[in-house]
Amino acid sequence: MTLEDADAFFRLNSHPDVMRYTGEPPLPSVEAAREAIAGYRDWDDPGYGRWACVLRDEGAMIGFCGLKFLPELGETDIGYRLHPDYWGRGLATEAARATLHYGFETLDLEEIVALVLPGNAASVRVLQKLRMERGEDITYFDERVQRWSITRGSAKVEDAGGFNGIDN
Ligand SMILES: CC(C)(COP(=O)(O)OP(=O)(O)OC[C@H]1O[C@@H](n2cnc3c(N)ncnc32)[C@H](O)[C@@H]1OP(=O)(O)O)[C@@H](O)C(=O)NCCC(=O)NCCS
Repeated sequence: MTLEDADAFFRLNSHPDVMRYTGEPPLPSVEAAREAIAGYRDWDDPGYGRWACVLRDEGAMIGFCGLKFLPELGETDIGYRLHPDYWGRGLATEAARATLHYGFETLDLEEIVALVLPGNAASVRVLQKLRMERGEDITYFDERVQRWSITRGSAKVEDAGGFNGIDN
């Protein structure tokens, strides 16, 4: 994500349908989007983070996907957020699949988790398509959330011809 993405980042993170299940307040302005992008440090420490998702043909920045280290849990989380204009095309699943591959094959992580607020059926469906598994719900920043996870070993099972055997 670069400062050139600030307008698109604002459109994404101020859309009520996008923000509903994120637990975050909507961004109030393009300036706030610029500050968020400029202040994003995860690629320095711990050295991995979220990527901008860009449509290959159009070059449009349509959202983000990637990893985030959660110091409160000592775990690495996968997250994704796309503008509603691009929902329902399998794009979040495609980006998340590439993210898992990077986390396990490049970063050598043992486990990747996902935290989901109750009611976020689209996100749960993405996690199911990734073959992640739901465990016990946990409390995270005062919210009860579903905790989903996948381990490197189970992700390596290639039973459907591709990484993690994910059906899109
Ligand atoms: C979650 C999100 C990234 C999914 O993006 P997407 O590109 O539409 O996802 P995909 O197309 O890869 O898969 C979505 C799946 O959910 C299903 N789905 C969508 N809305 C649904 C609903 N209300 N109930 C049940 N399933 C639903 C779709 O049919 C699809 O499943 P299918 O392939 O079996 O038909 C998108 O909805 C989003 O940005 N939401 C707002 C941000 C957010 O909540 N992020 C996750 C926080 S945990």
